[in-house]
Amino acid sequence: MAEIVFPENFEWGAATASYQIEGAYNEDGKGESIWDRFTHQKGNIANNDTGDLACDHYHRYQEDIKLMQKIGLDTYRFSISWPRILPAGNGKINQKGIDFYKNLVEELLEAGIKPAATLYHWDLPQKLQDNGGWENRDTAKYFDQYAQIMYRELGDLIPRWITHNEPMVVSMVANLWGEHAPGNQELQKALQVAHNVLLSHGLAAQSFRESGIDGELGITLNLNHVYPNSDSKKDQIAADYCDAFNNRWFLDPVFKGKYPEKLMDLYQNKFDQPFEVKAGDLDIISREIDFLGINYYSRAVVKYDEDEFYNFKTIKPEAEYTEMNWEVYPKGLTDLLKRLDREYTKGPIFITENGAAYDDQIAEDGSVHDPKRVNYLKEHFKAAHQALEAGVNLAGYYVWSLMDNFEWAYGYNKRFGIIYIDYDNHQKRILKDSARLLKDVIENNGLKNK
Ligand code: GAL
Repeated sequence: MAEIVFPENFEWGAATASYQIEGAYNEDGKGESIWDRFTHQKGNIANNDTGDLACDHYHRYQEDIKLMQKIGLDTYRFSISWPRILPAGNGKINQKGIDFYKNLVEELLEAGIKPAATLYHWDLPQKLQDNGGWENRDTAKYFDQYAQIMYRELGDLIPRWITHNEPMVVSMVANLWGEHAPGNQELQKALQVAHNVLLSHGLAAQSFRESGIDGELGITLNLNHVYPNSDSKKDQIAADYCDAFNNRWFLDPVFKGKYPEKLMDLYQNKFDQPFEVKAGDLDIISREIDFLGINYYSRAVVKYDEDEFYNFKTIKPEAEYTEMNWEVYPKGLTDLLKRLDREYTKGPIFITENGAAYDDQIAEDGSVHDPKRVNYLKEHFKAAHQALEAGVNLAGYYVWSLMDNFEWAYGYNKRFGIIYIDYDNHQKRILKDSARLLKDVIENNGLKNK
């Protein structure tokens, strides 16, 4: 009998994303994506790595599904590459792209694994970027059209749909900080992108309802619980700003149909019109969804700093950090889940990503021991369980990631997988100890030793 037991219907899974694992970047009629363009420009990515080949999952998906079966996954979260389906972003459909996902999904179902598809995990068709990308409101319309194609083609096979992965990263990391494709650094652009991405979510959610499909649809937000560095009034103001920027800017429109006033005021003081919102947009964005997906990696600790535009500065407490230099803070997951339950949704909530990067090595006997990741995952499983005990309607947990993959600006330098990919040896797959941990956890539906 496990000492920590999860609810009977709790679902265990692992997650990936198209550009990070598929490779085959120009095969079978796929169009160019903004990540193809961005990685092919020297200097954007560590080692100038690209996703051209990645884990070669496009050709090896059957082998990968066997590994998922070996681990015992209940469910697998993957993303669909928009330019594989619509090479130009709209218009002509590439049947081979549809076939790839159809085959993948059929094979998953045969293996008894529930498919969960993300429609957008950052690989926008370059042709749409050439017309302004997410800054252009038309992109929201095209996203909805693409979503409708997928509902029509795969709606009877895929029971769980996620419109977007992390609108905060799509808008701020890619268009304000410039670290991700398309690499812009302009606040107003980023705000418009955030709004149009959220709008496209609402449109696609509406179309999902109208399609009559018998599945569930949600959105995945990256959230981090924010803590003030001290009890001082000023640090609390800083924490509130940080929370508004990272979390509420995305949670509030989706669940409450409005943007947080605090930041709106700040933006309106800075610009005449920070970004365009049309009448009715927020009603569309706040259409009812079936679940919330959250990606949790770490917390934020912040301090007041009046020289900063948002009045806060992030600080790094003395603690344990992963290879990403992210603090290991499982309690942040419990606190976050409880807060979501209190302020936003009675669920269901899925953890659609949680995991850690470490510098894994192949041992002499060919195995890969990753004790730090094993510990990270165990502690976060326990933290999730504590939220369940507090009454949060948490329905499932996807570990990021099923396999090592192309970690965006960091290229192949950072390994998040529970399966090791030997890039020097034909992308050979090796199950790490963390994959065995997950297998045990799934078998017991919990953890044996607290
Ligand atoms: C998330 C993202 C994933 C993965 C992970 C680790 O933000 O959705 O694609 O890269 O972070 O950094």
